[in-house]
Amino acid sequence: MDQLHIGMIGVSGRGGLWHNWHRPKDGRSVVVAGADVRPEFLKRFASDNGDDPFTTPDYRELLARDDVDAVAVCSPDFCHEEHAVAALEAGKHVFLEKPMAITTEGCDRILRAWHASGKRFMIGFNMRYMRIFRVMKEIVESGAVGELKAVWVRHFVGHGGDFYYHDWHATRQNATSLLLQKGSHDIDMIHWITGRYTRRVAAFGSLDFFGGDKPNDLTCDTCPEVRACTETQPDSPRRQCAFRQEVDVEDNNIMIMELDGGIKASYLQCHFTPDYHRNYTFIGTEGRVENSEPEEKVWVKTRRSNTYREYADCEYSVKAARGSHSGADPVICEDFLDMVMDGKEPIATPLAGRMSVAAGCAGAFSLRNGGVPVDISTSPEQGY
Ligand SMILES: NC(=O)c1ccc[n+]([C@@H]2O[C@H](COP(=O)([O-])OP(=O)(O)OC[C@H]3O[C@@H](n4cnc5c(N)ncnc54)[C@H](O)[C@@H]3O)[C@@H](O)[C@H]2O)c1
Repeated sequence: MDQLHIGMIGVSGRGGLWHNWHRPKDGRSVVVAGADVRPEFLKRFASDNGDDPFTTPDYRELLARDDVDAVAVCSPDFCHEEHAVAALEAGKHVFLEKPMAITTEGCDRILRAWHASGKRFMIGFNMRYMRIFRVMKEIVESGAVGELKAVWVRHFVGHGGDFYYHDWHATRQNATSLLLQKGSHDIDMIHWITGRYTRRVAAFGSLDFFGGDKPNDLTCDTCPEVRACTETQPDSPRRQCAFRQEVDVEDNNIMIMELDGGIKASYLQCHFTPDYHRNYTFIGTEGRVENSEPEEKVWVKTRRSNTYREYADCEYSVKAARGSHSGADPVICEDFLDMVMDGKEPIATPLAGRMSVAAGCAGAFSLRNGGVPVDISTSPEQGY
């Protein structure tokens, strides 16, 4: 196969990934089709694409086409299970955005469809392709901090209102929980860098800032309080009121996790912090490694049993690469082509997608049931 023909399900928002794959003249892939429920997005996609792509409001018409070899599912979370299963059953290779699905059972259904299809399949875990986290993984794997025993992750989601409370993300029906929606990346990083999956969680959480008594159909551009509201964004496509009644996903989450091998992890996620920062610390028997995303730094501190001096401590500067999501998006798109065209094993595996959803769902159940500990179910499809 000289050139992979890709169809997009969801062409706007995250669907903008198509730009990385559309190389009609001399590239390894070309985007030949797009399905989306919004006609105005399809129109813009066709015009920007410029090569007369097939467009349709019904994704099933896209899947029925023989000129589509592979599909990128970039629709909202609650569509992932339906779209991914249908694409695999139609015999397409699949790139599926995170989270894999909004339930663990949904993930297992996708895994069953994948195994039956014989096609290639990966998850959009682009953080696995970000330099700063790759450096942290390399340090851990080098043994510099010894055997890992603890992980502490703090996610300051400073743009929480922007990303999650002005549209479909804000309800349990659509997203289950932000521990799963936003947290699936962080949980996956914990799994990936430790090389272990979560076995048991307990969590607390509540809706402390967003949500409220505003009408569900209120939007920022029509709101009488638009001048006084701290969260207003009347010009954004995401402009449903962040204080509307239907909002029910927690904005303040704390989860503790026990991983294979007894590693203890804590994950703190807050959606009303002023700054944006993912701060990770991995602690081993010989030292610890920590990052600062805003400063683009990673520090290694090594433990000394006979002195307090820190001669062996290191600071690394890790500049982000060019491209969206710190340069990760162009690379994950290439990895998809490597997987489909060259048989490379993907860095972002389907099992990893399932295990992060399983931990997020278990956390959501725990925090809504008094913080009760919840065991993570094994995946019948993967025997894990
Ligand atoms: N990996 C990452 O860094 C990253 C970043 C952002 C979003 N995402 C994921 O991408 C997905 C999409 O998020 P988004 O913020 O782009 O959402 P969005 O609301 O902007 O929707 C994306 C597109 O899907 C379309 N769509 C909605 N329902 C559809 C349907 N039934 N059939 C076909 N198209 C449909 C929308 O019209 C839109 O064009 C989510 O699952 C999200 O978690 C991942």
